[in-house]
Amino acid sequence: MNIGTKIVAIDYEVAKNKITNDNLTKILDTSDEWISTRTGIKERRVLSPNETSADLGVRAAKNVIKRANYNGDEFDMIIVASSAPEEIYPSVACRIQGEIGAKKAACFDIKAACAGFVYALNTAQAFIKSGLYKNILIVATDATTKFTDWEDRSVCVLFGDGAGSAILRANENEDDILAIDLLADGTCADYITLTTKGTHCPLVNEENQEIKPYIQMKGKDVYKFVMQEIPPKLEELLTKTNKTISDIDYFVPHQSNQRMIDALAQRLEIEESKVISNIEHYGNMSAASIPVAIREAVDEGKMKLPATVMLSAFGAGMTAGNAIVKLEKNI
Ligand SMILES: CC(C)(COP(=O)(O)OP(=O)(O)OC[C@H]1O[C@@H](n2cnc3c(N)ncnc32)[C@H](O)[C@@H]1OP(=O)(O)O)[C@@H](O)C(=O)NCCC(=O)NCCS
Repeated sequence: MNIGTKIVAIDYEVAKNKITNDNLTKILDTSDEWISTRTGIKERRVLSPNETSADLGVRAAKNVIKRANYNGDEFDMIIVASSAPEEIYPSVACRIQGEIGAKKAACFDIKAACAGFVYALNTAQAFIKSGLYKNILIVATDATTKFTDWEDRSVCVLFGDGAGSAILRANENEDDILAIDLLADGTCADYITLTTKGTHCPLVNEENQEIKPYIQMKGKDVYKFVMQEIPPKLEELLTKTNKTISDIDYFVPHQSNQRMIDALAQRLEIEESKVISNIEHYGNMSAASIPVAIREAVDEGKMKLPATVMLSAFGAGMTAGNAIVKLEKNI
């Protein structure tokens, strides 16, 4: 028997605190006009100090479990895509497992930055195809605003906090993941970094160095990388599935910058009405961007199901993950 992967349901949760571009002008030398025209972002969500990306992930997990009418103990595995969790251990997956009663589930986190959801999708698919696991919960959660320097106007205006979730199930023969492709290029590792390098040990640290765990980004290099690497990979996926761009009902790119979304859509020659974007309201929510964009588009009637959907995610590493998936009516 050929084991396929069914995408059972997709859901999300975003942080509650809404910060507009005008709010940011109170703490930064910036303007709504600069941010809107360069990025398409108007507002973003920011977690409260006592909340963590695991808390957001738990809420996204509970939402998708309710939507799919699952019980926590039905999961064999929880895969969390989270690249800057507040705790190095335990894993975010274990935190979520404890809150949803998924006693039987193996749990681990993967770190592929903004490409995390597609990396998790492919990892889950591989476990399902192998026959080892049947029901897998994926949560993509990032609270990136905790790691942005709020005095660095070129970075902090871009990000927001959110979590997306999906349930995948083993399915006889049919696979909702029609094609998927992951890539990484460590020669570009310095394009986006978040480091805690240094030491606190007073016997070693003679210089009393200051450790600043903030995101550093070479924005122009990131932009170039995406425009060079992503379009040919998406073309390859179309060829692999014997499809042309007109067979794609919707394109859901990583929500990093509206200009990048527009440029990718233009290169693909896909109609504007098929391109899903919610960056205006959330900014870049890292791994959560794609599942949040899908759920919201379906709920708002912008995405009609069933549909063939092309996903494209990219981020620090540099990492990227592209996929063509089938989304059924009741996801
Ligand atoms: C970040 C990004 C919007 C910057 O746009 P850009 O056109 O490259 O802008 P630059 O960095 O060249 O900055 C241009 C000027 O605007 C200024 N500037 C930067 N951020 C600003 C802000 N928030 N408000 C006002 N001015 C700002 C810079 O200081 C610079 O001023 P200068 O010319 O006097 O030095 C763009 O490079 C980008 O989106 N890159 C991709 C990043 C990304 O998506 N990363 C995540 C991928 S997962």
